[in-house]
Amino acid sequence: MLLVTGATGTIGRYLVRALTEADAPFRALVRDARKGKELGCEFVVGDFDDPASMVSALKGADRLLLNSGGALPLAGQQPMVRQQTGVIDAARAAGVTWVVKVSAWQPGPDAKLSVRAHWEIEQHLQASGLRWSSLRPTGYMQNFFTGDGGFTHSGALAGPYGVGRVAYIDAYDVAACAAALLTGPLGGGDAYALTGPEALTHEEIAAKLAIPFHDLTPKKASEDLRAQGLPGWFVDDLLRLYADMAAGSMSEVTTAVRDLTGRPPRTFDEFLANR
Ligand SMILES: NC(=O)c1ccc[n+]([C@@H]2O[C@H](COP(=O)([O-])OP(=O)(O)OC[C@H]3O[C@@H](n4cnc5c(N)ncnc54)[C@H](OP(=O)(O)O)[C@@H]3O)[C@@H](O)[C@H]2O)c1
Repeated sequence: MLLVTGATGTIGRYLVRALTEADAPFRALVRDARKGKELGCEFVVGDFDDPASMVSALKGADRLLLNSGGALPLAGQQPMVRQQTGVIDAARAAGVTWVVKVSAWQPGPDAKLSVRAHWEIEQHLQASGLRWSSLRPTGYMQNFFTGDGGFTHSGALAGPYGVGRVAYIDAYDVAACAAALLTGPLGGGDAYALTGPEALTHEEIAAKLAIPFHDLTPKKASEDLRAQGLPGWFVDDLLRLYADMAAGSMSEVTTAVRDLTGRPPRTFDEFLANR
């Protein structure tokens, strides 16, 4: 039995569909029973912040998809680290044998805060004695459309992007990789750097979205973000991510999606056609 966390999220919804189609025995963890009913699969209500609920949710599970997001950092502390390391400990106690974690691109001790959080969780997972696999995607193509926080909310694509290319990935492909691992032979100890099939500039992406592109200076972007009320340390962290992207840190294209699923990842055009 698989337990899928983050089941109501960007990757989770695709994963629920993929596992249902594959007829794999799984249960989805949800915080809100109403959202669970909407998923149309077996679900259990629980919250990473409620350890007792996780003990119940993990009963009988032998494989775990570890994925969550959305918790706002407070004064530089990422709640995700406490939450996910707690779930790893609960999984080990419950007899889970293999954890597949949704991580991030190039996690490391010197990465920007949210990515460093994934590195800390990976360290905990690797020390846990459990079998583990880590999915390390670049940015999701879905980021361009996620409501108020979406990259294109203002009707234009504006940021200090420069001409750096990014090999964005469709969350559909991240879910397909997770499904392949969770339903495949027992593995472990592998990290997969997941990308789309092409690295695009943000000007090229704006053209595909048929919206204007504004390449801002880092100073202007910082002023705009602070004017939105975001805390200074958070803006500085975000600006670091932009600077890395502009320098090409996410431009590598890997074969990991094809290796895991047997087919190439979706292009940006295919992502748009399937929305
Ligand atoms: N966005 C990107 O480009 C990108 C790139 C690389 C890696 N990532 C990583 O991917 C992960 C998912 O990010 P996302 O932005 O796409 O989020 P998401 O998957 O759309 O949503 C977060 C999911 O986590 C669940 N969740 C949040 N807090 C929880 C808690 N306390 N207990 C149980 N479940 C909880 C949410 O449930 P509810 O429905 O109840 O809120 C939701 O299902 C994050 O770890 C992020 O760092 C994102």
